[in-house]
Amino acid sequence: LKKNRSPLIFSTQLPSRRSFGAETLLIYDQFLESSPAVAKWIAGFPHKYGVTSGEDLKSVESFPAHIRKIMSVGESLSSRQMIIVVLGGGSVGDFGSFVASIFKRGVRLVQIPSTWLAAIDSAHGGKTALNVGGVKNQIGTFYPAEKIYLVKNLLLSQPNIRAQDAFSEIYKVALLQGGAFWQSFAKGGRPDGAILWKFLKPAIAAKYKVVDRDPLEKTGHRHLLNFGHSLGHVLESLHQLPHGTAINYGLEFALVWSQTKKFLKPAMAKKIFSAPASQYLLSPGGAGLLNSSNAAKMKSLLEGDKKKVSSQKMRFIFCRAPGKCFIQEVTFSEILAEVSRQSSIAHD
Ligand SMILES: NC(=O)c1ccc[n+]([C@@H]2O[C@H](COP(=O)([O-])OP(=O)(O)OC[C@H]3O[C@@H](n4cnc5c(N)ncnc54)[C@H](O)[C@@H]3O)[C@@H](O)[C@H]2O)c1
Repeated sequence: LKKNRSPLIFSTQLPSRRSFGAETLLIYDQFLESSPAVAKWIAGFPHKYGVTSGEDLKSVESFPAHIRKIMSVGESLSSRQMIIVVLGGGSVGDFGSFVASIFKRGVRLVQIPSTWLAAIDSAHGGKTALNVGGVKNQIGTFYPAEKIYLVKNLLLSQPNIRAQDAFSEIYKVALLQGGAFWQSFAKGGRPDGAILWKFLKPAIAAKYKVVDRDPLEKTGHRHLLNFGHSLGHVLESLHQLPHGTAINYGLEFALVWSQTKKFLKPAMAKKIFSAPASQYLLSPGGAGLLNSSNAAKMKSLLEGDKKKVSSQKMRFIFCRAPGKCFIQEVTFSEILAEVSRQSSIAHD
């Protein structure tokens, strides 16, 4: 296995607590105690620290208070043997893995993602993160977990609306990867838990395929994972949409723009858009989200995007075909012109 890859363990139930040994500290999302089975599993850990998930947890301003409490919970644990097990969604994963990466100069880390977003995406690739002054992911480390458990019963216990939201992450990586993964997903991909579980393994493998070529985000290749995210993030802020829903709109926008630019030829576009999985893509123009009265606000949100390369330009991901997506620099004015174009065709 490559150094940045974490071994994956697919299981039906949560792993036995004893498998981690005595020197274990559990950092977990307290919300999960609402399930009696998970609450019982958590109760079995003598050293544990429950948190409230969300962006506030990742705030650097509240970090000193957390780390003091974690130190007192983990006081009797030996730093050499110690394992931090992190159970929760992406916010708890970003926070808990950051703690593991700096606690006693770095201790062993195991992740058990409890949301689809964390299971498909955020638990993999080793990025940890804290927010500074409300700005996301400004501080962090690269610290891959030594194991990641993908637990079917835990993930399927989420409400179906979560699967709808996570659908776009799988659609994105299937299109980036192309080949057999895309073929099989395109035929039957639906936004429900059973399908997400079925495609979880190839989806993670597809993410690692990109990460492996740019593990420390040095070459820019890892930006491919932002497919659908440039406009997605703008719509997320502008219309207060759930992240996955916003990315879904962003993917459709990127595919249509790829057609406008003639990267995506008509026959291939027809193949992609007529695939059963593509019927779950959402059209931002059709939903009236590309309102030109928001142009100034959109421009300022684009300017704040981390994919920005200069005061006028950012990296955008286009698609020629499944497995043939690529990064190209575009100006903010070009994006806004395409926003206006897609808005007007939706209203024709
Ligand atoms: N490190 C990375 O590479 C990376 C990549 C993408 C996103 N992220 C980060 O991930 C975070 C978003 O992830 P998220 O949506 O998982 O966030 P989250 O941890 O805030 O979880 C979202 C909600 O789901 C609840 N939840 C957790 N497990 C559940 C379960 N089994 N059933 C029902 N509800 C459950 C949580 O209590 C919370 O209310 C953001 O902070 C984002 O920046 C990190």
